[in-house]
Amino acid sequence: MMQQRPPMGWNTWNTFGPNIDAKTICENADLIVSLGLKDAGYDYIVIDDGWALEDRDEQGRLVPDPKKFPNGMKAVADYVHAKGLKFGMYTCSGSLTCEKTQPGSYDHEYVDAKSFAEWEVDFLKFDFCNRTPIIPGKYLFRRMGAALANSGREILFSACSWGSEKTHEWVKTTGASMWRSTVDIANSFESIKKLTLKQLELLPYNGHGCFNDMDMLVVGMNNDSFIDGTMGTNGCTLAEQKTHFSIWSMFGSPLMIGCDLRLISKDALEILTNKEAIAINQDATYSQPYRLVCGGRSDERLVFARLLSNGDFAVGIFNLTDEPFRFTFGTDEMGVPTHCGKTLAAKEVWTGEEPKLHSGMFNEEVEAHGCRLYRCRVIDA
Ligand code: GAL
Repeated sequence: MMQQRPPMGWNTWNTFGPNIDAKTICENADLIVSLGLKDAGYDYIVIDDGWALEDRDEQGRLVPDPKKFPNGMKAVADYVHAKGLKFGMYTCSGSLTCEKTQPGSYDHEYVDAKSFAEWEVDFLKFDFCNRTPIIPGKYLFRRMGAALANSGREILFSACSWGSEKTHEWVKTTGASMWRSTVDIANSFESIKKLTLKQLELLPYNGHGCFNDMDMLVVGMNNDSFIDGTMGTNGCTLAEQKTHFSIWSMFGSPLMIGCDLRLISKDALEILTNKEAIAINQDATYSQPYRLVCGGRSDERLVFARLLSNGDFAVGIFNLTDEPFRFTFGTDEMGVPTHCGKTLAAKEVWTGEEPKLHSGMFNEEVEAHGCRLYRCRVIDA
């Protein structure tokens, strides 16, 4: 089925790495419902790397680690489904997954897709480590895409090759509904900035059917993420988390929560459930965000606009620099020139503020690492 909106959900990797088990997953699934996250749109519960034993069984199938999943994988899927949520899993295009503790799906794509279908999996993340250098990535992703499409179950295919081998040029040939357009996120503003800047050239490839995945969110993560060199530990301030969430919303990335919901603060929960930001992310017409000229030379001062399905605009100001900056920019570039008698009524998503435009110009001082995210109505000038 054609994917109409960026998928939303929760994934184990950012906080737990390979240290996962059924209990942790089910407790977080409970919280997706009880904290109102399911109502906000988060509906996939995804188990990342680290769930299987080192060896396949005598029929060549992957085996969930019985210490971590004592009742098997179908039991976890049943638990998740009973909550009205969808269940996701992970494997890899190489002979081992990235953690190297479990086999990848190389040359076992069809066997594994069958297991996933039997366990009633709804989503599969497919990684790119430890692959054979003699087969191009696109062939490996097409294999799993075809295997899933023939598994007898509708399973969303989430491609994770970090944008390498020019993924954007071939990923839509694989049946994927989302694709990782970035390297791994770390729990720092530096990382958020890096992923954002890298994304700018890839925005034309985002859209219905297959969404650019900027990686799981670090919103709500404390400094307790697992450490093996993948995930940094310096963390982000709340203001930085808002900027992060606003960028992912504005750019139409899948929104996959990466924190331990048992430890989430009220403030972080408020970020993840902000209805206006989510509405921008999930807008039915995924129209491409475009950059506006905003004064100042830095590449790290970004203003983006996006036309929404009801004729409104989303406008995002993202100050990725370490200094405050006064952003001034007009609405002409958005197709709303004041001399045609139109202007915008703007409402800020986080504060509810309604700044007045003068002669069709925004004029906003934004703190270092801060943002403004507006929903704007076109009105008579
Ligand atoms: C990386 C991937 C991460 C996570 C990890 C698991 O390649 O980008 O999101 O899945 O592997 O080992």
